[in-house]
Formats: sequence, C-alpha cells, structure tokens
Amino acid sequence: MNQPTQLGRYQIVRVLGRGAMGEVYEGLDPRLDRSVAIKVISTACDADPELHASYSARFIREAQAVARLNHPHIVGLYDFGEENGAAYMVMELVRGEELAAYFDMTQDFHLEFTLEDAVRMTCELLDALGYAHRNGVIHRDIKPANVMLSHDLRVKLTDFGVAHMAALNAAVQDADGAEMVGTPSFMSPEQITGQTVGPQSDIFAVGIILYQFLTNERPFRGAGMFAVQQKILHEQPVPPTLLNPLLGPAFDRVIMRALAKRPEQRYPGADAFRDDLLRALDGDAAARPDATSPPPPPSPWRPLDTVTPRSPGDVVRHAQDDADATRVQRAAHDDADATRLAPSTRR
Ligand SMILES: Nc1ncnc2c1ncn2[C@@H]1O[C@H](COP(=O)(O)OP(=O)(O)O)[C@@H](O)[C@H]1O
Ligand SMILES: [Mg+2]
Repeated sequence: MNQPTQLGRYQIVRVLGRGAMGEVYEGLDPRLDRSVAIKVISTACDADPELHASYSARFIREAQAVARLNHPHIVGLYDFGEENGAAYMVMELVRGEELAAYFDMTQDFHLEFTLEDAVRMTCELLDALGYAHRNGVIHRDIKPANVMLSHDLRVKLTDFGVAHMAALNAAVQDADGAEMVGTPSFMSPEQITGQTVGPQSDIFAVGIILYQFLTNERPFRGAGMFAVQQKILHEQPVPPTLLNPLLGPAFDRVIMRALAKRPEQRYPGADAFRDDLLRALDGDAAARPDATSPPPPPSPWRPLDTVTPRSPGDVVRHAQDDADATRVQRAAHDDADATRLAPSTRR
C-alpha cells in the first residue's frame, strides 16, 4: 500500500490504524506546529470507481457528522482537504490505544480496569453519545475498536463513518433507512433485522461494551457471524453477577435494560443509562466493606494500585509491537468481529 508523504500542508509521519474503508496516519501540521491524525480513503478501492464513489460520499458525510460535534469525548475535526482527487480528514490526534486493544490485553494478560474506571469510561462514552444524539447524529458502529483511550484512560469516540445524520435531504435519508450498517457482533436486534436504527441502537452497543468491562466476556458469543446474531436476536445474556460475583445486583439490572431486545425497553437516552449506572456503582460502594475491614481476597476488582503495576503506556507499547498479531488473533477468535459490514442495501 502506497503511503503518502504529504497531504496538503500536512506531513505524514506514520500509520496509526487501518479500518474498513481507509487508513489513519499520524501527521504534522507545520503551520501550527502540532501533531494531527489524518484519515484517508483506502487506495485499495481506487480500481473500482463505483466503490470509490460510494466511499467518498460516506467520507464527506463522516466529516460533516464530526464537524457538527464539539465534545471532550469525541475526536475533534480540524480540517478537510483533497489532494489529487483523494479526500482527507484532519483530526485531533489521540495518543493512546483503542479500547479493543485493552480488552485483548485483558484476555491475554489478565489486565483489568478498576470498577470505578470501567464505569467512568462507560459514562464518558455515554456522555459523548447523548451529546451526538441531541445533535441529530447516531453513530451506528459503537464497538471497542472505535473507542480510543488516551494514556490517562479518557475516552475519545472516533469513526463516524456510518453515522446517520438527521435533517439531511430526504433522498439520503431514504437510502439510509434501507441500509444495514455496523459490525455484526455489536449490532442491535433492529440493526440485524434491518429495522429503523435509532439512538437506542447505540445504547445497545454500549451495553455490550459495559458487559465486557464488567465480566471480561462478550454477552453474545459464537462461532461466526450467524451464531452471534442469532444470540443477539433470541438469547438473554448470562447476568454479569454470575460471571463476576463481586458485582452488586444493580449491575445486572443495568445490563439487562441496556441489552433489552426491543429498543423501547432500553434506556430512553444515554443520560438515563449513565445515571442508572452511577447509581449501581454507588450502591455497590455502599455495600462494600469499609476501609478498616481486612482487604478482600484477590478478585477481578482489585484496586488499580494492587494490580500488577503495568502502566497504560506499557500496554500501549505492547499493543503496538504486536498490533497485527492482535488484529489477526481477534479476527480468529471471533470472525464476526473482524469486519465491519460494508454498507449494503437490504431488500
Ligand atoms: N484521531 C485519532 N487519533 C489516533 N488514532 C486514531 C484516530 N482516529 C482513528 N485512529 C486509529 O485508526 C483506526 C481506524 O480509524 P477509524 O476512524 O475507526 O476508521 P475506519 O472507518 O476505517 O474503521 C482506529 O481504530 C484507531 O486505531
Ligand atoms: Mg473503525
């Protein structure tokens, strides 16, 4: 793959990530003397003009969606340009890693977040989504690979590549309504069945992420996309307290509501989800022994300073050394996760 050395006034430094439609580079803006992230459409689709046109249209819509949003937990858009017919998006650079890399580390090396950190990060994600929803943007592809964590574990939501924007012209909305987009393992039942996708679809996906934070496991697992989707459609997940007995029962209630099959049974909005999650954490803290009690036995929720002292920086280095292996491995243990469904039109 040909890596450009310059796009507009921006110098390309290195590859940060590759996704469904394109590449993301670290770049340098010499005029403002700051590092940036630059997203481009993959040159792999250059040979297919139809595909290129469809990706370009989506790319512009992604930039328009992000341009509407100005939030501390959503990656900021700085600039949009074109070079030799290829569009690029210049964004705030997040120095850190995808949440997906941390989850992979957790499985491989038993690295865990504290419950407080897990809840705080989920709340940051919900704050970002509540804000996006209020501004008419539905993300539609919430998953750990699209949630970046800075080195100090602050959330930055990325990848509005398949976001839906309200108040676009009717033709686009019609086409949009008929699409099935997202990533199979993180799709809500209504996304799988091609029904209307709304803010509650993003809430369902956050429920899947929260479940993984709480239990180290995915709520819906299976060999391949079909098996996972059948579970999403028809099966109730194992209550998180059965997998992590140290959680208070309120967490089961939060998860079951976020992962309800019907959108109207879920939280009415991201804010209600966040508030209930914080109440669950408070109830959990109140039920825990006070500071004078002897320390609890080793558990998945040891406080961070008693966990193997590995700093987020170490995790990041490790993840980067092994970035390709991590991706391949992820793809291998759940192939439903490996791909984001290319936008396709359903009958
Ligand atoms: N602003 C950013 N700062 C740092 N890394 C980023 C940024 N945006 C994206 N990345 C990295 O690039 C990867 C692909 O970007 P993403 O926007 O998800 O593209 P795609 O639509 O191709 O999935 C991300 O998963 C992440 O690792
Ligand atoms: Mg992505």
